[in-house]
Amino acid sequence: MTIRAVLTSVAAWGLLGLAAPALAQSDPLAATGAWSIPERSQARTPPMGWNSWNAFRTEVDEARVLGAARAMVDSGLAGLGYTYVNIDDGWWLRRRQSDGRLEIRTAIFPSARIEGGDTSFRPFTDALHGMGLKAGIYTDIGRNACSQAYDLHSPNLPEGSTAEREVGLHGHVDQDIRLYFAEWGFDYIKVDACGINVYGPENPLVAEHAYTPVPPLIDQVSINRTDVPAVQALYRQVAGALDRYNPDGDYILAICNWGSANVRAWGKDVGHLWRTSGDITPTWTRMLHNFDSASTRALYAGPGAWNDPDILFIGHGDFDQDHLTEARSHFALWAMINAPLLISYDLRQAPQSLMDIWGNADLVRLNQDPGGHQGVIAYASDDVQIIVKTLSTGDKAVALFNRGAAPVDVTLTAAHLKFAAGAPVRLRDLWDGALSTFTDETTFTLAPRQTLVFQATGERALPDGVYLSEVPGDVNVAVDGVVAPEPDPVVHRMRNVWGETRGSGERPTYAGWGGARADATPYDEALRIAGRGFDTGIGVLANSRLEVRNAGYTRFEASVGVDDSTRNTRDSVRFAVYGDGRLLAESAPMGFGAAPAALTADISGVDVVEIVARSGTLSSDLPLVVAWGDAALLR
Ligand code: GLA
Repeated sequence: MTIRAVLTSVAAWGLLGLAAPALAQSDPLAATGAWSIPERSQARTPPMGWNSWNAFRTEVDEARVLGAARAMVDSGLAGLGYTYVNIDDGWWLRRRQSDGRLEIRTAIFPSARIEGGDTSFRPFTDALHGMGLKAGIYTDIGRNACSQAYDLHSPNLPEGSTAEREVGLHGHVDQDIRLYFAEWGFDYIKVDACGINVYGPENPLVAEHAYTPVPPLIDQVSINRTDVPAVQALYRQVAGALDRYNPDGDYILAICNWGSANVRAWGKDVGHLWRTSGDITPTWTRMLHNFDSASTRALYAGPGAWNDPDILFIGHGDFDQDHLTEARSHFALWAMINAPLLISYDLRQAPQSLMDIWGNADLVRLNQDPGGHQGVIAYASDDVQIIVKTLSTGDKAVALFNRGAAPVDVTLTAAHLKFAAGAPVRLRDLWDGALSTFTDETTFTLAPRQTLVFQATGERALPDGVYLSEVPGDVNVAVDGVVAPEPDPVVHRMRNVWGETRGSGERPTYAGWGGARADATPYDEALRIAGRGFDTGIGVLANSRLEVRNAGYTRFEASVGVDDSTRNTRDSVRFAVYGDGRLLAESAPMGFGAAPAALTADISGVDVVEIVARSGTLSSDLPLVVAWGDAALLR
């Protein structure tokens, strides 16, 4: 393990509020001078492509997948960047007991039948590679997969004895990863988590189907009952095997544990993307739920590591060709928050109106902007949101999002864009190309569920630098100070399409509450120090450390202090700025009510700036909320 890896794992332990293992006695807040997310060559921008699940569930087959691939190439979608063609659940037949090798269901993937009785996906991946595309496969981190619990009517469930039907990675990580990548030539893997979630001994399904009972490591409604380090360790094992069998690093690891196990804090250290919620369904309110689970977490994503609110459902249900307003909103929102753009529709017969949505080159471009800055919520309410994303050109993309069922007037201000008042702002509508200009503010009337998206050009409010909250892709939350992960109450809780209104309702589920936020406190309040409000800044808990990549700026500046929203009004905190591991500036200890203090540091020639808010041992269990008001890098 390198020093950096040790420190990263210490940070991860600290972040979970757990006693670190004996090895990890070092201080997780100590500046390392390094960017601690692995530098990955893959997924520098959010993965794009196609996935079989929302279109076909387990009734995936070779003709459908290759048909989608062909359509992607012929229609020009592939040329826009839709590259990965991912098979989801349903492909497997059994695990051969003589040697543990997985067998493919050749009834649906006929090209997998090879001489000598083995099966291989190599002809299939060759076909995709031959089209200039990449190939993705699906597995589970446990013994059994999700379909074996949830799709019991499927004709494509694994067959045979208990052991033959154990098609997940459990006990076979190296063997399976080697098979998928080194032998079969896949480029992407989605690793689901039903095997460590639904096959508990108390589930009647387990006896009925003679599955091996597995005490759940994940309890989706209780973070306290979830074994976070154990879940993390299993996914790290997969990442390790991928490194071994793909020495050139040409793979993508998609963690699919539905926002459980506090994955939103550690997913970036282990995989290229991680699901932030349960499955999307083709309903408007479920889409809101999935969107909300990722949209507040901009600081946790960046090049090589993305929040994943799930596969697109465009073309189905509330997002079908008769609901183009909703379908466009779904696409624009995914684009704005740097979600993976994975189409899941039978592309052999897609109407042009849907092709035009997936094929909107402007929206794809903003999703794929190399800066990797996820959109940040500039205006928050349950009815309307304004989301602003910084593009690497310095322009902004802005989405005006009507979440509700009634028309609404939405006023966009230059301040939302962090553009100067009094100067013209040019807007280009990314749906119809219309150009317009405004100064200070402008108002649009949005239809129910409509999302307008613009590219905006204007004079920056901060002419000689950039606010940290504008460039979340350059910020890594190494330690976010959360000692007891709590469920996030601002994720929209829709009537559940599976259970309908049985039970007691949809309660907050996903840990993430209290994590670092751009332009808000960790609890979604406005930033404010001693009565002075900050529209711009980073809100985080004390005992946190954030890494910031510096692309040639010479000065760091912020107004720091304890945030007025803090429930801990007793303890104090010291703010420090490090450059490549060296202390550059430090505040005096500051407590609740102290006026914001200016903190400035010379960061000339520094590659990694670290901003640390340190309290030491808190006298209270209540979280101490701090603000880096107007935190900026200046030329
Ligand atoms: C889980 C995942 C889905 C899909 C199914 C397959 O529900 O979250 O995305 O892969 O399993 O069974």
